[in-house]
Amino acid sequence: MTNNKKNDLYNILLGQLLSQDEGIDAEILSNSALNAIKFASLNRNFPIFSSILSKASNDLQRNNTSLNQIIFDSHFKNPLGLAAGFDKNGVGAGLWSYFGFGFAELGTITWHAQKGNPKPRLFRIAKEKAALNRMGFNNEGAKKFFKTIEKQKIPTPGNRPCVLGINLGKSKITSLYEAHTDYALSLELLAPLADYAVINVSSPNTPGLRTLQGTQQIKKLIKTLKDLPNCPPLLVKIAPDLSNEEIDEISRVVKENGIDGIIAINTSLNRFNLKKLKIKTGNTLEIENGGLSGLPLQERGLEVITRLRRSTNNDLPLIGVGGICSARSAWERIAAGASLIQIYTGWIFEGPTLVPDILDGLILQMEKHGFRNIKEAIGSGEPWK
Ligand SMILES: Cc1cc2nc3c(=O)[nH]c(=O)nc-3n(C[C@H](O)[C@H](O)[C@H](O)COP(=O)(O)O)c2cc1C
Repeated sequence: MTNNKKNDLYNILLGQLLSQDEGIDAEILSNSALNAIKFASLNRNFPIFSSILSKASNDLQRNNTSLNQIIFDSHFKNPLGLAAGFDKNGVGAGLWSYFGFGFAELGTITWHAQKGNPKPRLFRIAKEKAALNRMGFNNEGAKKFFKTIEKQKIPTPGNRPCVLGINLGKSKITSLYEAHTDYALSLELLAPLADYAVINVSSPNTPGLRTLQGTQQIKKLIKTLKDLPNCPPLLVKIAPDLSNEEIDEISRVVKENGIDGIIAINTSLNRFNLKKLKIKTGNTLEIENGGLSGLPLQERGLEVITRLRRSTNNDLPLIGVGGICSARSAWERIAAGASLIQIYTGWIFEGPTLVPDILDGLILQMEKHGFRNIKEAIGSGEPWK
């Protein structure tokens, strides 16, 4: 990462993160950044901190009304969000707006606290702008998550500078047969904190989880959660490794069962053209377990959104994620049908200035195409100019 890509907030809170393959373990770097973020979020309303944060965030935020949208009854200042998995325990919930995000998805949270898979389990592949992870839903569990959010004194849903989604998964110790009760316990507790909630049935690192994408399983899961008295807008996050026919089928089923949106895509078991590439363990990606993220997912992410747009008949909000690492890839995802987009690996490699770079790029494209609001760009098919 070049120096001119960094900014104050980056230097204060994020340090080096994942931007190189070698050196300190990627997870240790992420965790030390998250500790700084946690401290800053808890103290963000103290005058001394709030003035430092506001100054530092000045060049990351964009307040352009052409980027505003109301979706899931929430007001999104802009369509760019932080994807699930970076802030698994919600420690930065009060801070993501300072980084310029219009929304942030916290989690994945499971009902039971769990350690996740043995380390090392997160690998940088800097040259390819990619990462491989097999974290396995390490998180502090739903009860601790509730307290973490409470402590940060975050405004209630509907009154936040940054929309907050809560992404839910199945605890490893819960059987697949009982998965619906596990998700329901978490959602019942966390619903009052969520602008929207996500059923994550697509992470590759919890054995059997992806089978919950099957027609009968997903129906049962949606019905159980929708029957809760306080269910917020509910989305499903799907895998990139589904066939096109499976994508059509899951679109049909979730739509029929009252789902409010689809997030595509999670990390991939496919290695694309990187099968022979060796990572830090000495093994090639072909034999190393885990989900691939970042640039290699860009094309598949676009394909899946295009397919979903068609199979949902354009009437379900889609969130596009996977390999977005420039304004152009962000525009292409929106033009293909995504109402909102998310970034993770690209943000790690490019640094926080990727947020204003993308937002400026979107504003410019809208001007070039004569659009007054981002809504007009969604599914327009208009090329990057
Ligand atoms: C280290 C790491 C951890 C992740 N953890 C989660 C998770 O807990 N839940 C989830 O739904 N997605 C998780 N993801 C997937 C991302 O949210 C995203 O769908 C995927 O990485 C593709 O986007 P990207 O190419 O911008 O990274 C994780 C990704 C990474 C790299």
